[in-house]
Parts: sequence; structure tokens; C-alpha cells
Amino acid sequence: MNPHTALTRWSFSLVVGALLIAGCAAPNGESTGTDSTDAEAPSAKAQRIAAMKQVIDQHSFARPDEARITHLDWNARVDFGTRTISGTATYDITTAEDAERIIFDTHELTVQEVLVDGAPVDFPPLGESHPFLGRPLTVPLSPGAKQVAIRYTSSPDAGALLWVEAQGDKSPFLFTQSQAILARTWIPVQDSPGIRFSYNATVQVPEGLMALMSAENPTAVSDAGQYTFRMAQPIPAYLLALAVGEVEYRSVGDRCAVYAVPELIDEAAFEFAEMEDLLLAAEGLYGKYAWDRYDLLILPAAFPFGGMENPRLTFATPTIIAGDRSLVALVAHELAHSWSGNLVTNSTWDDFWLNEGFTVYFEQRIMEAVYGRETSEMLATLSYQGLVDEVDAISDLNPDDTHLKLHLAGRNPDDGMTAIAYDKGYFFLRLMEETVGRERFDTWLSSYFKEHAFGGMDTERFVEYLDRTLLVDAGDKAAVRLDEWIYGPGLPDNCPNVSSPRIERVDATLADWEAGKTATADLPWNDWIYQERYRFLSNIADDTPAERMADLDKAWSIGTTGNNEVLFAWMEQAIRSGYSPTYPRLEQFLIEVGRRKFLTPLYRAMKETGKMDMALDIYGKARPGYHSVATGTMDELLDWK
Ligand code: BES
Ligand code: ZN
Repeated sequence: MNPHTALTRWSFSLVVGALLIAGCAAPNGESTGTDSTDAEAPSAKAQRIAAMKQVIDQHSFARPDEARITHLDWNARVDFGTRTISGTATYDITTAEDAERIIFDTHELTVQEVLVDGAPVDFPPLGESHPFLGRPLTVPLSPGAKQVAIRYTSSPDAGALLWVEAQGDKSPFLFTQSQAILARTWIPVQDSPGIRFSYNATVQVPEGLMALMSAENPTAVSDAGQYTFRMAQPIPAYLLALAVGEVEYRSVGDRCAVYAVPELIDEAAFEFAEMEDLLLAAEGLYGKYAWDRYDLLILPAAFPFGGMENPRLTFATPTIIAGDRSLVALVAHELAHSWSGNLVTNSTWDDFWLNEGFTVYFEQRIMEAVYGRETSEMLATLSYQGLVDEVDAISDLNPDDTHLKLHLAGRNPDDGMTAIAYDKGYFFLRLMEETVGRERFDTWLSSYFKEHAFGGMDTERFVEYLDRTLLVDAGDKAAVRLDEWIYGPGLPDNCPNVSSPRIERVDATLADWEAGKTATADLPWNDWIYQERYRFLSNIADDTPAERMADLDKAWSIGTTGNNEVLFAWMEQAIRSGYSPTYPRLEQFLIEVGRRKFLTPLYRAMKETGKMDMALDIYGKARPGYHSVATGTMDELLDWK
């Protein structure tokens, strides 16, 4: 459904006009960068040009062309007893001259009171509820209105929030996950990535707990449980974040620190001691860091993602603590978002690849700068495999989802979170690097970030920019074939080659082992680093018998590894091979860990190998501890009622 179709009072031309005035499009009607149009009907091109002129976010009820927020003052109380957040969100707004209303996104919020410029107003009931978009809150405005305050309470089932209960001597914990469209479940807001605002906050939490946000943060617990925050740079709503728990602060550099629960703070400080090196490398590549500090918060294992790039404070899963710093690429990734995503932001979720593809590219470059080309090429090889598998997996069902530019109208933007945006996006940028040369590409990318800092970017404007600034040479342009990459299915055949001799040796070793060699004598497991181990385990043939898994386990006790990526790959194959000695560890893992990237393949492996009873038994125990983002996916996979 298009939420905007419900709004008839506001003319379409107003939208176009406002965006043109704001300089959001460059509709010169000539080159839009879609010049390999030979293969494409003119009407498709015309449609695309038209799309440039009206970048409407289908996943928000807000009408920023009429009235938009510019600053938030948030005053809130976090109540673990009722599992609610209640408070007042006061927004500074700017309006079009004739604006008569401002629209906010809400989802499962109860709105108690609305004030405009300090005076209570009658506001119409919230609009009809949509399953994932929620309900619009329309506030009537009189001419010249400057400020809107909304007093509200969140629901105990708010999709963004995970309330982790106190257990034994462990304190309770609360964290938010706002991306993509869940901010509206804990604060009424214009929840569109194209709308930015700065914020200040005052938050009351239970005594003894620390509160942290995507903002300037405290470094110690406040006795009274009251915290104030300031985010001076404008950010979109999906980067609003809050965490409350018994966490400690440990500095690991001039601009970097880790926050974690007391049990993990030492391990975390060791694991991420190199954060500042990553930050320096990133700045060396693409320009000054714009957010002052870069800290990392280790969340409870129920966190549904690996990491989330909340500005100034990346949220991360504890499953990246391996004891040997082998999984820091994830930190490089979230750090890279400080440029690609947080500074230059996808205008809509259809343009998600502009966030993630750029970030994977930037992540690889940071990894190369800090750990060398051999390591980064191994990561690129794994990324290539992930991409080929994903293209395979979704080509038949939803071929359009293999385009970089997505069409998510009417769907949950979560559907766009596939390896396409990440890895096809990465290889597309790498292709451009290899086509124009690294030096030119780097200079170009630095200016891209600088010129569009604190702004939005959509695919069509990006193509136009690319044409004008990077692919100016006809030969380069022809070599890249960007229409195929951006608007076409699958993986174009000019995809760059990655090669990693070490990964190739692993593949050869796997072939030998599958042909009957034994693990103890013939496998250099102990000499392998994580990427090699992961490659080996994730490429074992599905139908490998349990005895062969026993051979591996006996030789190297793989089921007890401290590296969760390796453990995950091991467990997935154990399920497929029916190697039952691993099942207790599997159950424990699934109850403890809520990271969707691990859950989906593990439950799916059980489902596909006739172990539905086992899957449902474990899921029944684990589900209460998972975040809504994970249960949403698993409920569907397992047909859970
Ligand atoms: N921003 C994403 C996480 C995300 C995307 C949350 C879309 C909600 C909707 C984050 O930067 C990310 O990509 N995390 C990855 C790790 C990364 C190393 C690929 C993850 O969590 O797996
Ligand atoms: Zn990312």
C-alpha cells in the first residue's frame, strides 16, 4: 500500500516543486546516466526521470514538503516494570508557507496530548493502522507554527525494543533497534531516512543503570538514574538509539571506547583495542570523521544484528568477541557507515544499496589498509560466495530483488536486507575502482562524501552524479554497464575477479577430505585463520554423513571453538549431516543468541532435513528472548502460530 494515496488534499505538483526547489533532483531531461538505454524502452527511461523528480518515501506517512522536523527535545522515562517508554517529544519544525498540518509516524504508540507552540490542540484520531507502517498522527497547524510537542507512551510490544529480564545477579537491559522503520514504535517521529534532525534528550532510568544514546554519552553511572544527551549533527530517525543497562566504560584510544556489561568489559577492551587504528585508516581514505567520538556498545546476545551503526555509538552483538580479534571487520563495517549511510544517507529504503554497498566497499578498504590485501581479499572471496549463493536463492522467487535499486513499496523494507545491497553493491563499486583506477576512484569517493554530507541520496541522483563526475570517459562508461548492475537482475558478467590463494588451498584440502582423507593427518586446521576455517566448513557438501563430521570433531573439537562464525558454520553442517553430538551446543546457542544471520540458516537447516520437531521445540524455548526483527523472520520460516 502507498500511504500517500490516502492523502488527497495535497497536490502532487507541490511535492515535485518542493523537491526541485530543495535541489534534490537534477531533471535536465538529458543525461540521467541511463544511457545504455538501447536495451530499454523509452517509457522506462521517462518513468525513471519522473521518479527523480519526486523522491517519495513509501515507508513513511510524513509529508516533508509540507512540514518537517528539524530538531528534537526528548524527555522520557524508561519503565522496566511496565516495559514502556513514556515522555514528550518536542520538535522544532519548518513548514511550507501554506502548510496546515504536520504528519508524524507512530506505531503502537498511545498519544496523550499534542501542543503546538505550547498550547494544547485538538488532533484527529490516529489514522488507520497498517501492519508495519503503523498509524499517521496528523497535527493541525496554524500559520507560522514553530514547535510541536507530543506526549505519548510506547507499547510493551514495541517492535524496536528488547527488554532483557534480570537473571540471577545480572541486571535487566533494554536496547532499541530502529532501522529500518521501527523508530516510530518508541517515539512519534517523521520516520524517513530523507528527514534529518538534531536532538537533545533527558532520560530517566532505574537507579544503578547507565543510559546511552546515539549522541554524546556519559562515561559513568548517574546515582539518580538521570541522563542528558546531545546530538548536534542532524540524523535521520532510523539512527535514533537508546540502551539502558549495567554497563561499564573503558577507553581504548583518544576518540574510542567500549561499553559492556562487567563480565565482558575486559574481553571487549582487548578485542577492540585496535578501533582507533580503524578510525585513522578510514579518515586517511575518505576524509575527516564527522561525529567526534566513535564508541562501541556490546549488547546482550539477543541483539538481532551483528552491528548497527548508531552515530557515535555502534551497537554490536557479543558474538564478535572471539578472543583473538578475528571478527573486527564488523567494526570496520559499522565505522564505515559513519560516512556511507550516516553522512550520506539513502533517501528511501529502495536505495538501501547506497548505504550498504558503499559500506562493504569502504569496510574492505579499511581492512586492507590495516591488515593487508591478503586478509581483505579473503573477506572479498567470502563476500563473492555469499553473493553467488544469494543470487541463486532469490533469482527464481523474486528476480527483481536482485537489482541494486529495489521496489519495496507495499512491502516491509526488511525484505530488502539481502546480500544484494551489500555484496552486489560492493562488487559494483569495486568494478568502478578497477575501471577508473584506484587513485581517481578514491578522490572521487572523498568528494562524493564531502559534497553530500548530512544529506540524502537516491539511486537516480547517484547515477546522474556518477555520469557527471566519474564515468565521463565513454570507454569507462561502456565498460561498467551500470544499467545492468543497478536495474538488472543477477550478477553481470563483468563482475571483478577475486582470488585468494589461501582460500583456493582450503578448497583443495576440502576436496581431498571429501575424497576420504582424514582430518587429523591431512587438515592444517590449527594453521588456519578464521576465514579459512569458515570457508572449509561452509562448503562441506550438504549430504556429508555424520561419521565424517565425527572425524573432524575428534581431530579438532570444532564444536568448542570460541569463534561464533566458525561455530555457526559447524552447527549448520552438523544439522545437515545429522551429527547429533553437536545438538546440545546448538540448542544452548539458539537460546542464548538472537542474531538473525545465524538463526535463519540454523532453523532452516532443521526444517529442510526433517527436524521440524527439534526446530519447534528449541524455538518455543528461545522465542521469548528474541527481538521482533528475529521472531518476524523465524515465525514465518517455521510457520509459528
Ligand atoms: N545497518 C545494518 C543493519 C541493518 C540493516 C539493520 C537493515 C536493519 C535493517 C548494519 O550496518 C549491518 O549491515 N550489519 C551487518 C554486519 C555487517 C558486517 C555486514 C549484520 O548485522 O549482520
Ligand atoms: Zn551495514
